[in-house]
Amino acid sequence: MKILVTGGAGFIGSAFVRTTLALDPASRIVNLDKLTYAGNLENLSLVEGNPQQRDRYRFVKGDICDASLLEKLLDEEQPDAIVHFAAESHVDRSIHAPTPVFDTNLRGTFTLLEAIRARPVKRFVHISTDEVYGSLPAPAEADEQYPLRTSSPYSAAKAGSDLLALSYFTTYKLPVLVTRASNNYGPYHFPEKLIPLMITNAFDNVPLPVYGDGRQIRDWLYVEDHCAGIRAVLNQGREGEIYNIGGNRSLENIEVVRRILEGAGRPESLIKYVTDRPGHDVRYAITSEKLERETGWAPLMSFEQGLEKTIQWYRDNQAWVARVKSGAYMQFYELNYSSRT
Ligand code: NAD
Ligand code: DAU
Repeated sequence: MKILVTGGAGFIGSAFVRTTLALDPASRIVNLDKLTYAGNLENLSLVEGNPQQRDRYRFVKGDICDASLLEKLLDEEQPDAIVHFAAESHVDRSIHAPTPVFDTNLRGTFTLLEAIRARPVKRFVHISTDEVYGSLPAPAEADEQYPLRTSSPYSAAKAGSDLLALSYFTTYKLPVLVTRASNNYGPYHFPEKLIPLMITNAFDNVPLPVYGDGRQIRDWLYVEDHCAGIRAVLNQGREGEIYNIGGNRSLENIEVVRRILEGAGRPESLIKYVTDRPGHDVRYAITSEKLERETGWAPLMSFEQGLEKTIQWYRDNQAWVARVKSGAYMQFYELNYSSRT
């Protein structure tokens, strides 16, 4: 199968490219990525350096909002499937600056859908998030029919793009499938998100900024388990359907932070409670029962093992971290954290 991946230089997209090329020797991947602050070709150096993989891989720098580029690429490559990861993915950035979020997550998805309306593919998998269900009271768990109740510009744009994608199935009979995953973690995760931020700050012996009381709950999914779930949907999912992909591991943020400090060998005195995120969703919870029942997929990595592997990866890849955490990263850090007391 030849797959056009969008956003394949980001955290989850690059894991999808690496694992798919490694697991399926018949697979070919074209990676279309704009290389925003979150896109990093270093995340794919293992592919570029692997003689068994590099001939089955092509990188194209470009924007999913560029309709003529999409037309040209679809004509040239004629992919069997598209797996659409490209997005502005960070809630805090979406609060500070919503414009790129609406450009990429909504207009970009629309442009892509219009491109495949003219040049159909066999599968279009739209990668979305459990954030579209909003904050749930315990012990509720969202299945795919749960109402959408978004809080941030990021989640509102993702919900909009889900509905748009599904409308192309209903109206134009395009083979659209939507996945909604819980919080991912693992290697190559950009250190603006909770787990890599806390790991890298712990190694640097600088404060770990916990929003509010730290009692918010997220369900943690190891990134390779997410990619396996996406492949299950791509290969076995039913068109027009939504599939939740969860990690089955709900933890309060403060518990995650404590475990990171323990794993990194740093003291709890580094924890600093700071002003909460505006509109902060307290609890995400989904059930992936539908995906498990229809495809046999299940998350395989325990949180303990996954966190240990992740901490070790950051310990072993300090040059990657140093490059990512310089320049514009520090400007955003200042913007996001300096006003939080
Ligand atoms: P990321 O921010 O690490 O990567 C996003 C990638 O998209 C980058 O490589 C970036 O350069 C690229 N990109 C951004 N705008 C683009 C554009 N206009 N055209 C082409 N490329 C563009 O994001 P991630 O964490 O890997 O998330 C990937 C997808 O998974 C997103 O759609 C996100 O909503 C979804 N998701 C993420 C999580 C999570 O925990 N990170 C959980 C569920 C769903
Ligand atoms: O649930 C899936 C979503 O998970 C994805 O759709 C998003 O792309 C991804 O960014 C993630 O969103 P969150 O907002 O849950 O992730 P983040 O890592 O930003 O925050 C996780 C929790 O940690 C959240 O409750 C806020 C808190 N937090 C985060 C940061 C960055 C802190 O307490 N301190 C911080 O510095």
